[in-house]
Amino acid sequence: MKWNKKDLLGIRELTKEEILFVLDSADSFKDISKREVKKVPTLRGKTVITLFYEPSTRTRTSFEIAAKRLSADTINISASTSSYIKGETLKDTAKNLESMKPDAIVIRHSMPGAPHMLSKYMKSSVINGGDGAHEHPTQALLDLFTIREKKNRIDGLNITIVGDIAHSRVARSNVFALRHFNTHITLCGPPTMIPHDIESLGIQVEYNVEKAVQDADVIMMLRIQKERGGIAYIPSIKEYSSIYGLKTEHLKRAKKDVIIMHPGPMNRGIEISDEVADGPYSVILDQVENGVAVRMATLYLLIGREI
Ligand code: CP
Repeated sequence: MKWNKKDLLGIRELTKEEILFVLDSADSFKDISKREVKKVPTLRGKTVITLFYEPSTRTRTSFEIAAKRLSADTINISASTSSYIKGETLKDTAKNLESMKPDAIVIRHSMPGAPHMLSKYMKSSVINGGDGAHEHPTQALLDLFTIREKKNRIDGLNITIVGDIAHSRVARSNVFALRHFNTHITLCGPPTMIPHDIESLGIQVEYNVEKAVQDADVIMMLRIQKERGGIAYIPSIKEYSSIYGLKTEHLKRAKKDVIIMHPGPMNRGIEISDEVADGPYSVILDQVENGVAVRMATLYLLIGREI
């Protein structure tokens, strides 16, 4: 397959073939991280900037590790150390960074569409590292990679996503990706946290966790997006946790080989119990490990090959 995209702004714009192409490419990059010398020269001479206006542990670090393992030079800019706090606009930041000729910019921003705007002013590749409640494409790609790795397939699986769906870019990107496959998607959460009319997309909605996890092959738990006002949509954290928090007893209803996923950061004791997060069905740290391979593949496809 020929990859001819400059940017990765969202899953919505990817075809099934393109998604599978990233996953297959990530397969070959995963081995590099298991070697004693975890470095190949693929992106030597390339420069990757991470521009993060929101906090991140996994995405920023794994993009930096991915770029470094491919021998690219990396520069990290966060809101607190950029001229954003002196009033510089995103457009001016984009134009100034572009003048320094980077090859790729990974941006995280609270404003949906910020990466799309950046891409208009930059010849460099722009990768969406999460834009508000809109999309988080590399998270969905690493989630699909992990599902395929653990289940040997994506088609035919029952996938349940529980939590603050309405404010979650992870849920949106996963739904866009999973809809290309023959999966049965169930979204579960309080009615105030489920987007209106989502059932018209052929997605099942359940307000009861016991029913939502019945026969699930994959259960993906999401935190309440406090930074996007999620807390205002529930009466109390305690009540939310008692009704929607995933506990060991829920797993008896799921398939025997169910996997438990969470994009992180987890709020232990709220959406997921310690026993489930650290238990035998959890693949949460595998997701993080696979994030490096998926981001290596993303960088390689965008800036490592002639288009
Ligand atoms: N999953 C995810 O985006 O985690 P971070 O916020 O730590 O990057």
